[in-house]
Amino acid sequence: MDSTFQLFPESASQIADRVDALYLFLVAVALFFTFLICVLILYFGVKYRRGSLAERGNPPRSNLLELAWAVVPFLLSMVMFVWGADVFYDIKTPPADALQIDVVGKQWMWKVHHPGGQSEINQLHVPLGRPVRLRMVSEDVIHSFYIPAFRVKQDVLPGYYTQMWFQPDRAGTYHLFCAEYCGTEHAQMIGSVIVLEQDAFADWLSGETGDPPEVAGARLFERHRCGSCHKAQGGSGPSLAGVFGRRVPLKSGESIVADEQYLRSSILNPQQHIVAGFQPLMPSYQGQLNESDVLKIIAYMKTLEGNASASGEDTGDGNDQPPETEN
Ligand code: CUA
Repeated sequence: MDSTFQLFPESASQIADRVDALYLFLVAVALFFTFLICVLILYFGVKYRRGSLAERGNPPRSNLLELAWAVVPFLLSMVMFVWGADVFYDIKTPPADALQIDVVGKQWMWKVHHPGGQSEINQLHVPLGRPVRLRMVSEDVIHSFYIPAFRVKQDVLPGYYTQMWFQPDRAGTYHLFCAEYCGTEHAQMIGSVIVLEQDAFADWLSGETGDPPEVAGARLFERHRCGSCHKAQGGSGPSLAGVFGRRVPLKSGESIVADEQYLRSSILNPQQHIVAGFQPLMPSYQGQLNESDVLKIIAYMKTLEGNASASGEDTGDGNDQPPETEN
């Protein structure tokens, strides 16, 4: 890497060149009109200065001219819109086969959880040439996950899962920034994204240890006695077998699809949606489970298939509810 001045950060993802091209187009249009208007201001300023003999009556009238300054900006803005929408749509639409990695932001670090159970802090290892989808959430305030070399940035919010995706197309180490002011050490909330060839990535993964999230999630499920209420049948809480992706009827008469967002809020804010036929008995686990824990439990819930088999081993007598916490 030479140290000559760079106008742009290096580009290392599938979308980077397209973002740059659009950006350059916008800058070029802005420069063109800035220049044009400056020149005209000067020109007319001199031509119609006080005391000049320029013709001031009888301004020219031309329908063509009027039409031109309505139609040309319209067409230009439509080009920007369609082009921008096209790039935006691709940035917002991860391919179905993307590798999913979880990111939890907190003051002031990034925690990364790989599907195989590997975890890292302020580093993100990803394979070259493979789409990667990040599912992100914050423990505290709003952060923003920004990888300039990939030209992607996404806010990371407390209480809500956001996502972003990219496909690295050049191996190397790239900057990772928090791009949303989040407190005293915001500027230290930085890290690296390390893009490895597929083989090197597999080596890296095998060198790290950790339980897969669904295994760690099963342990948390056990430790917090979730199964004592969430039995397959007849529990004081709804059965969790096959719950993920199912439409759940609510007490309010509405229904809701049990996606990740719903499962998260059911754990941390259980009074928000009461399932039809059940009492609002469940305490909040806010403060007992952090966002990483919740992601693991959700991973475990996704493995609970069928109607009455996998979930709800009775792990207690039903009275051992977790201690109440502040809601
Ligand atoms: Cu996190 Cu700024």
